[in-house]
Amino acid sequence: MKRREFFLMLGLPLISFKGPLAAPHSFKNKQSFNEIDWKSARLSLKAYRSVQKTGQWKLEDVEGQIPSEISGTLLRVGPGLKENHDTRLKHFFDGDALFQAIRFKDGQATIHCDFIDTPHRKEELEKGRMLYNEFGTMAPKRTRELKNQPNISIIPWRGDYLALSEGGHPILLDGKDLSFKEVHDFKGTLPNSVGFTAHPKIDPETGKGYAFGIKQGASMALHIYEMDPDSGELEELYRLPQSKVFMIHDFMVGKDTIAFMIPPAYFKLSDIIFNRGSMADALTYDASLGNRLIILDKKKGGSRRELTLPAAMSFHCGNLYEEGDEIVFTVCQARDGSLLSYIANWQEGVYGNLSRPDIIEWRVDKLHGRVLSKRKLASSHDFPFFNRNYLGKKSEYLYAANMGDKSDPMRFSGVTKINLAENLLERYEAREYETFGEPVFHPLKEASSEDQGYLFIPGYSEKRNESFIKILNSQSMKEVCCLWLGAFIPVGFHGHFMS
Ligand SMILES: [Fe+2]
Repeated sequence: MKRREFFLMLGLPLISFKGPLAAPHSFKNKQSFNEIDWKSARLSLKAYRSVQKTGQWKLEDVEGQIPSEISGTLLRVGPGLKENHDTRLKHFFDGDALFQAIRFKDGQATIHCDFIDTPHRKEELEKGRMLYNEFGTMAPKRTRELKNQPNISIIPWRGDYLALSEGGHPILLDGKDLSFKEVHDFKGTLPNSVGFTAHPKIDPETGKGYAFGIKQGASMALHIYEMDPDSGELEELYRLPQSKVFMIHDFMVGKDTIAFMIPPAYFKLSDIIFNRGSMADALTYDASLGNRLIILDKKKGGSRRELTLPAAMSFHCGNLYEEGDEIVFTVCQARDGSLLSYIANWQEGVYGNLSRPDIIEWRVDKLHGRVLSKRKLASSHDFPFFNRNYLGKKSEYLYAANMGDKSDPMRFSGVTKINLAENLLERYEAREYETFGEPVFHPLKEASSEDQGYLFIPGYSEKRNESFIKILNSQSMKEVCCLWLGAFIPVGFHGHFMS
């Protein structure tokens, strides 16, 4: 039986990992961009609308001075379109993937911003219509096929880049010019029916990566992989069958431990089998399942322990480190799944009882499977970012974005530096006409302390109708400079700074 027939039999949505190949297409942004439509819109909606300009240009409008010691590329990705031909895309996660690469050298900066030319995107542009379902928006003509949309994150990998969708296979981009190379399966070691996380972790010392994916099929298994930077292949460490297709967005990697905090959010199979709506429509939150903490030995075939904790919607994770038999880690957790409903129709308006994530630090005895302590570090925050050189080690600092108030929750209104040891919070506030995205921390090469470096904050100013990158001194949390991007570019989701 062919893979397609197998999934259709099961009724599961099919992600065409390879996708049909189309002839190269020269991109022209034909989507309408009507300022008048957006005048009365909430700030967050304006900050995530369709991109105004793509291409490459020098960033000449800089307030302050770009430090000459900043040398490298800030690379980020996010949805670049909120329409697909005649269809308005509903979900916060929907839209063709757009990368932004801002290159810094000798106190100057240039930007390269363009769409990722995936086979699915090319095919839709060629045929002039929406052919594939997005995560939260169905294509006009009924189909089960999901678009492999690498708009969540992007990481460097063996001289190239992996643009990541989480549902499908990574999209490999050329390390020099970010052009599309292939839909990547790690030399055949990532099965066609297994997705790939948008949040792999790379060990800064060994260069080895850790990743996971969910099996599309009867087992609904969580596959956990080690990524070998030398061979470019994956090695499967664990295959854990699940009772449901859980929504697992992030995980944690320590020196000897891999841990998952799995929320009680899952895709309802009957809705998927009968193709009743989008994947986001099929997402269900059932508090009775609790929040499952899975703790695994990092070594293949090691021990496994599972704890069921009170229900919470776990989103992004911070760092994890071990102290003897104990593990300490941070997770952004909301008290229920209301944020999932909100972002599914976030253009519609205000949502009454929205629960936003708090940053929680957990200490767990991994040997006996007991929670030793739990403390709230900050309320209403997400997009945690820590010094990646400290992955799996005890780290003192965490940076995160502060969510907006009830009137506009997705307007991130500031960035907080959390000193975990001293329980101190330092804030950098957005102005009332600004919204921020994920703060990206880049440590200095010869840093003498964990927080020595720069914080890059992407954002949008309603006042200027223009996007920016603010650079902060990450020790003092004071602004060093602001780079105006010269156009509106959607704020986007995740990224990295690469020297
Ligand atoms: Fe994420």
